[in-house]
Amino acid sequence: MAQFLNSMHIARSIPELRQHLAHSQCPAFVPTMGNLHAGHIKLVELAKPQGDCTVVSIFVNRLQFLPHEDFDSYPRTWDADCAKLEAAGCDVIFAPRETDLYPEAQTVKVHADPALADILEGEFRPGFFTGVSTVVMKLFMSVFTGKTQGVAVFGKKDYQQLMVIRQMVRQFALPISVIGVETCRADDGLALSSRNGYLTESERTEALHLSLTLRELGRDALAAASALATHLPALEGKAMSALSQRDWQPDYLTVRRRHDLQAPQAGDALVVLGAAKLGKTRLIDNFEV
Ligand code: PAF
Repeated sequence: MAQFLNSMHIARSIPELRQHLAHSQCPAFVPTMGNLHAGHIKLVELAKPQGDCTVVSIFVNRLQFLPHEDFDSYPRTWDADCAKLEAAGCDVIFAPRETDLYPEAQTVKVHADPALADILEGEFRPGFFTGVSTVVMKLFMSVFTGKTQGVAVFGKKDYQQLMVIRQMVRQFALPISVIGVETCRADDGLALSSRNGYLTESERTEALHLSLTLRELGRDALAAASALATHLPALEGKAMSALSQRDWQPDYLTVRRRHDLQAPQAGDALVVLGAAKLGKTRLIDNFEV
């Protein structure tokens, strides 16, 4: 296990975390599932000046995985994560054991608005946003209870997740400012993701085609202009078959309006979103266009 200078604390339980935060008036919080890459570290660096204590949680949340998904094999890289967080200036790592965060079955859950949470990721991963909303609410209660203000930082790579969290914070009137951060990309444009580590060498090269196809779909959507609604099904179909022909299994490649992820009309601000499996690895990406 890694050794630390006495500046960074590790809290294993909610009471321990609250002790470390007793004197903080404005925690800046980055929730993660660990296996940290440069994208996570950018979130931490952006969080740091926003509060008086930078907290990063590392918790692989069983509630947001379906039974056939990769909960068991999700990479746990504790020592490397701690070293990166210490270098980034994190003050407190909150790494609860499962029995600390869920000492009894978590039967009380946060159900996000189905209009937002049952589409796209929620359609292909039923229950995903209930799992995410529930753990994020619990992490927020752990970090921010007793505080009159705080900041939470999320990546835009999980675009729909960020929207679900913003809506939850707004509707529960939590005293938290949610900051969304642009996606970090590798030199070739691939969005950084913990799941990129599952890719074989040849899949890693191919992986770029998800973002290339989404970019092209975004360009096509802009070119359709006032006839967008008429042309969109064909444009989305073209993008889906382009990826399928390259041996991907796309779940969705779609253009939505930004503010609620519903089907767009001409003139709406747009976001193009996609999820597709390459071999055994499911990747997601998005662009605001
Ligand atoms: O984006 C993630 O890593 C997770 O969904 C989160 C927000 C940490 C909740 O488990």
